[in-house]
Amino acid sequence: MAAPVSITPDTIQAHRGASAVAPENTVAAFRAARDQGARWVELDVALLGDGTPVVIHDVTLDRTTNRTGSLAALSKADLAGIDAGTWFGAGFAGEPLPTLPEAITALGELGLNLNVEIKQHEHHRSLEQLTETVHACLGERAPHTQVMISSFDPECLKAMHRLDSSYELAMLWGELPPDWLDQVAAIPATAIHLHYRALCFGVLDRAGERGIAVRTWTCNDPSQMAPFWKEGLAGVITDNPSLFLS
Ligand code: G3P
Ligand code: MG
Repeated sequence: MAAPVSITPDTIQAHRGASAVAPENTVAAFRAARDQGARWVELDVALLGDGTPVVIHDVTLDRTTNRTGSLAALSKADLAGIDAGTWFGAGFAGEPLPTLPEAITALGELGLNLNVEIKQHEHHRSLEQLTETVHACLGERAPHTQVMISSFDPECLKAMHRLDSSYELAMLWGELPPDWLDQVAAIPATAIHLHYRALCFGVLDRAGERGIAVRTWTCNDPSQMAPFWKEGLAGVITDNPSLFLS
């Protein structure tokens, strides 16, 4: 079993920023995470058609901006007219859709650490283009910004490991496959990020025996994770850090 862990600003990550109170994957949501006392932000990264890395969850603009259409059809110049805030609330009108370098700069200024979830989409030209782009952006981060990389795609994590073997890598799963320990070892990952409903004491035991950190997503009810901290749960990714930290 892993050593008991407690709820602290370092064990609570803001999912897409504090996305319960501000538009997800924007600097406004990162600021809200900082204001809620979190020290880590999880954000989603994908590439536009011209290879620009942007911070957005979906493969289209439709749900979270004032525009529609695929990321594949866009280039960096198109970002200027995009409003990623009004869909969430009028008070966020004009909030930009950030590039990854812009997000990294903002997080450095806010003193927040970064969990980059790399999204693999069909329009990406290659795995190498995606991972080398993310790696280059991370090389420009402030020295005080800690980073971890997560993905549902083990090939993304393996590619990041080839680029820098010191990256902390977290494999994302909704449910654990039977060979999850072998997959973690093959990457090699240092953590798993598991849907909170799939967590059980046995997973924490087996991960703990091998020194693998376990975090859960996306849990917005602290009572559901309460039994697991003393069994070694390493962290929770939540839309609303204040629920855990207040
Ligand atoms: O990193 C945890 C979580 O963000 C994974 O799911 O779909 O919210 O990116 P999703
Ligand atoms: Mg994510």
